Amino acid sequence: MRVFYRGREFLVLPGVYEPAEDTFLLADHLEVKEGERVLELGTGCGILAVLAAEQGGRVVATDVSEAALRCAWLNAWRHGVGERVELRRGELFSPVGSSTFDLILFNPPYLPEEGEGDPRWSGGRSGRGVLDPFLSELPLHLSPGGRALFVQSSLSGVEESLRRLGEGGLEARILGRLRFFFEELVLVEAGWNLFSPPSQ
Ligand SMILES: C[S@@+](CC[C@H](N)C(=O)[O-])C[C@H]1O[C@@H](n2cnc3c(N)ncnc32)[C@H](O)[C@@H]1O
Repeated sequence: MRVFYRGREFLVLPGVYEPAEDTFLLADHLEVKEGERVLELGTGCGILAVLAAEQGGRVVATDVSEAALRCAWLNAWRHGVGERVELRRGELFSPVGSSTFDLILFNPPYLPEEGEGDPRWSGGRSGRGVLDPFLSELPLHLSPGGRALFVQSSLSGVEESLRRLGEGGLEARILGRLRFFFEELVLVEAGWNLFSPPSQ
């Protein structure tokens, strides 16, 4: 299957998450400075990692799915940024040890679902099964001045995410929203000194 974003074509192999409104909400707000160290968790077909690398980021992209990493590899090389996107397999931050990054991106599985859901989109019963461990570890992996962009649904508690970020010492704001009739997709930006950059 092929998916297009702003006229660009991305391959999506069988079993890999098909980029959707949540992906594009994040992509529309993606701004990377030349040379920034970027981590994308759960890269899927690699679309966000490719866009970040095209803007000059040095990207590490991870996923739990082997098929996703194969697909991201193909898309990175097809778009000429294979050398700027390093792919690693594993859960959340485990593939990067204690490394820190200037920008961390995550479009996590966030849908509340009973039972064993699909790891591409299911966040367990509360929808927070992947989101909460991500938020707990996030401060450890942001460089000084670093920031994160992540997507979640109004169905899985945006206020709860903002509260947890605050507990971790991070500032946060909502950068974008997409309203559907049964939920709202919310793009959250979090970081150190988001509102009050340290004086030079
Ligand atoms: C909603 S999809 C997003 C894919 C892609 N980033 C995008 O925006 O189109 C979530 C991705 O996270 C991966 N994933 C699920 N649980 C994960 C975990 N614990 N750690 C890392 N990746 C995970 C899934 O395999 C899937 O590729």
